[in-house]
Amino acid sequence: MTTRVKTPFAGREVEFVDREAALRQLVELAEGGTWWPLVMYGPEGCGKTALLRQARAVLEDRGYHVVYVDPLAERVGEALQYTPSVRDIVLDVLRRFPEPYARIVDVAISVAGHIMRSLSRPRIAVLMDDVFQAVGVDKAEQYVKALLNLIEYPPARYEKIVVIVASSEGVTRERVGRHRWAEIRAMWNMPREGFQQLYDLLPGPKPPLDEAWRWTGGNPETLERLYRVGWAAGRLVEDMVEDKGLTELVVSLAGRERGILARALEDPDTLMERYGEAGALVEKLVGRNLVVRLKRRDPDAWVDVPPPERDPELGIGRYYAWQTPLHREAVRRALR
Ligand SMILES: Nc1ncnc2c1ncn2[C@@H]1O[C@H](COP(=O)(O)OP(=O)(O)OP(=O)(O)O)[C@@H](O)[C@H]1O
Ligand SMILES: [Mg+2]
Repeated sequence: MTTRVKTPFAGREVEFVDREAALRQLVELAEGGTWWPLVMYGPEGCGKTALLRQARAVLEDRGYHVVYVDPLAERVGEALQYTPSVRDIVLDVLRRFPEPYARIVDVAISVAGHIMRSLSRPRIAVLMDDVFQAVGVDKAEQYVKALLNLIEYPPARYEKIVVIVASSEGVTRERVGRHRWAEIRAMWNMPREGFQQLYDLLPGPKPPLDEAWRWTGGNPETLERLYRVGWAAGRLVEDMVEDKGLTELVVSLAGRERGILARALEDPDTLMERYGEAGALVEKLVGRNLVVRLKRRDPDAWVDVPPPERDPELGIGRYYAWQTPLHREAVRRALR
């Protein structure tokens, strides 16, 4: 078992927990030789970045040269990270770009090509975090195509390559999904056991596990934020109403749409049943990262374990789900 990376949580560094299924899947994908880039999307704060960072460690253990891109990194130097074995190649490519950090995704693709040319049949992993948010969702398709080209028409031979792109943009599935250029899988919040491990790490006093679960739906970032505000969930709800402009959203709706939104609080699948009348509303909810369109619950369509088929308490329907119960609560507040 690979060492577990440290990841920041609630003001300290904790060991990455759970997500065994996801790590197994990612290794299988890499070893099988990927045919398409894997694009994974999921609720904000569900743990995509933490998983990519753990995946990096797992893949490096298996001899992969990893190029990791995080364009939204706080420090410029962190936007591009890599296995020390390819340091010279990276530095060389960085010199070729006048403004490498403005075009970090291109830099990473170029680095992967140079690794193929410089090393003999290398194993390569290209991991990209939130690149669509950085390059703009309108360019998402273009970049996915460039990544596919890297796999299909490599500049030199490689032994294995795996390309994984994580996205928190609600529209990812639609933008990328209309081409057969990527395998798109969703990732959900943490399953109960993994969530409990994180909950156990938090110092008390804290509400019972059940309550934390009902607020967060297993979302680690929401758990962290609840902890930070001393478990005052109401404050987080108010913040979300303001930060996501939910009052404006509600005001902008026609009466009938408001009715549909109110019903979607009880059953998110209302958004599917009434899509004909409320399609524009549904797109807004997806685009603002309030609601996620869910794939069928075939484990192969997901990274890690899929959410339950339905869970009305957490706001999970067959076709649509609230990103977390807190998101649903914020919309409820705005509707009042
Ligand atoms: N499996 C895990 N083990 C330990 N901590 C985790 C795990 N998953 C997520 N976390 C922690 O929960 C918080 C949110 O996770 P993370 O930032 O990875 O989510 P994300 O999906 O990348 O969010 P965003 O949509 O904002 O990019 C972070 O503090 C992260 O370190
Ligand atoms: Mg992230």
